[in-house]
Amino acid sequence: MKNLIDFINSNNVRFIEELKEFLRIPSISNNPDHKPDMQSCSKWLAKHIESIGFEKVEVYNTPGHPIVYAEYMKAGKDKPTVLLYGHYDVQPVDPLELWTDPPFEPTIKDGKIFARGTTDDKGQLFIHLKSLEAYLKNNNSLPVNIKILYEGEEEIGSPNLPKFLEDNKELLKCNLVVISDTSMYTKGLPSICYGLRGLAYMQIDLVGPNKDLHSGSYGGGVDNPINALANLITKLKDEKGKILIDGFYDDVVPLSQKERDEFKRLPFNEENFKKELEIDEVFGEEGYTTTERLSARPTLDCNGIWGGFQGEGAKTVLPSKAGAKISMRLVPNQMPKKIAQLFEAYINKIAPKSVKVKVTDLHGGKPSVTPIDTPAINAAVESLKKGFGVEPVFMKEGGSIPIVNSFKEILGADTVLLGFGLPDENAHSPNEHLDLDNFHKGILSITHYFNELSKIK
Ligand code: BES
Ligand code: ZN
Repeated sequence: MKNLIDFINSNNVRFIEELKEFLRIPSISNNPDHKPDMQSCSKWLAKHIESIGFEKVEVYNTPGHPIVYAEYMKAGKDKPTVLLYGHYDVQPVDPLELWTDPPFEPTIKDGKIFARGTTDDKGQLFIHLKSLEAYLKNNNSLPVNIKILYEGEEEIGSPNLPKFLEDNKELLKCNLVVISDTSMYTKGLPSICYGLRGLAYMQIDLVGPNKDLHSGSYGGGVDNPINALANLITKLKDEKGKILIDGFYDDVVPLSQKERDEFKRLPFNEENFKKELEIDEVFGEEGYTTTERLSARPTLDCNGIWGGFQGEGAKTVLPSKAGAKISMRLVPNQMPKKIAQLFEAYINKIAPKSVKVKVTDLHGGKPSVTPIDTPAINAAVESLKKGFGVEPVFMKEGGSIPIVNSFKEILGADTVLLGFGLPDENAHSPNEHLDLDNFHKGILSITHYFNELSKIK
């Protein structure tokens, strides 16, 4: 291992320069204007994977954005096959004016690299590639068989990836999936994530009168879709954070006392949490701690809302239309399709006759859990200890990576989530960044991990 560690230590500056090239490509998946960037980003990635020593690299076109696949199967039949998954697509950058530096011009400050996609997920998937490079350039071999699967649609719910898994079960056959697209619990504390929430993402559209009306002439006699929408939204959740949709909690597996005790051992400081976010009080479901609410209980949040006059000054108008985007984070065993149906049924039940309401199921993903009493998890504990010099913690994440459930359902493989981001690195928001110390220790940890995995019989 020494030669590998020396190589990783002495090439760190070059690794970061290469990562910058990757980050400069504005691979925003949700915007059709960026389709050419998605193409060039997938090509850049494929070329990079070849350059580090992979012989078999393919770019597969899909009805959406391309999938990059590569493999190395020379470790032998007696060694595990590890599927590495990551996503090269990034979130949109708005509001652009809140970025200190341009989102696609990577900038280093205070030991952190700033750009869209640094922590989510280009910087993190690059950690895997640089570890593979260390092996291939120094040992001319990898200790385990590796399959690489990078997609460009994670941030829009991976619409085309499940079918790709179905169609390519043999190609993607593996013993284990490894992903770095989550966060460490806190700086200096390596973390193994064993659960992700699922998601049901809905849109509600309301139409009142067939055109905007003078609010003086018609107000009082015609329902206002914004008022009606606000009423609907307040009926989705009570003031204590309990979700009121009929049947919403029916399939929720209660937290075990053991798990609740484990949560209490995580170093969460509520006062600091409030201070960082400049909020006076936390909010959430009664009877649960903030840690539990953040990752192990279901949620319902309005993500956006529109309607009527938003310009400067006043305009008296009774608008014709209003709408909202609403997401629900799901926990085992809530299923997104069923939750979407319950949501729609509830909205239809409570909506007034004075407006027309349309509910659309935009996308969803199932929650996932990884069993932690396995050799692959033990190997992860050992590797993180070596990479960071600290015993890792086990945690759940509140975010979602819907394809993790498909890896289990379609390929039969569990996923080990070793995240090297930090929770406050502004994923999905302005000034996204990645701590370069974690980038470096991440490469060391993953390098140990491939070695530890090769010892599993
Ligand atoms: N990297 C995140 C997943 C994540 C979020 C992990 C928060 C840990 C904490 C991923 O890129 C992501 O943002 N996923 C989306 C999925 C959705 C679009 C289906 C999410 O969680 O909103
Ligand atoms: Zn993301």
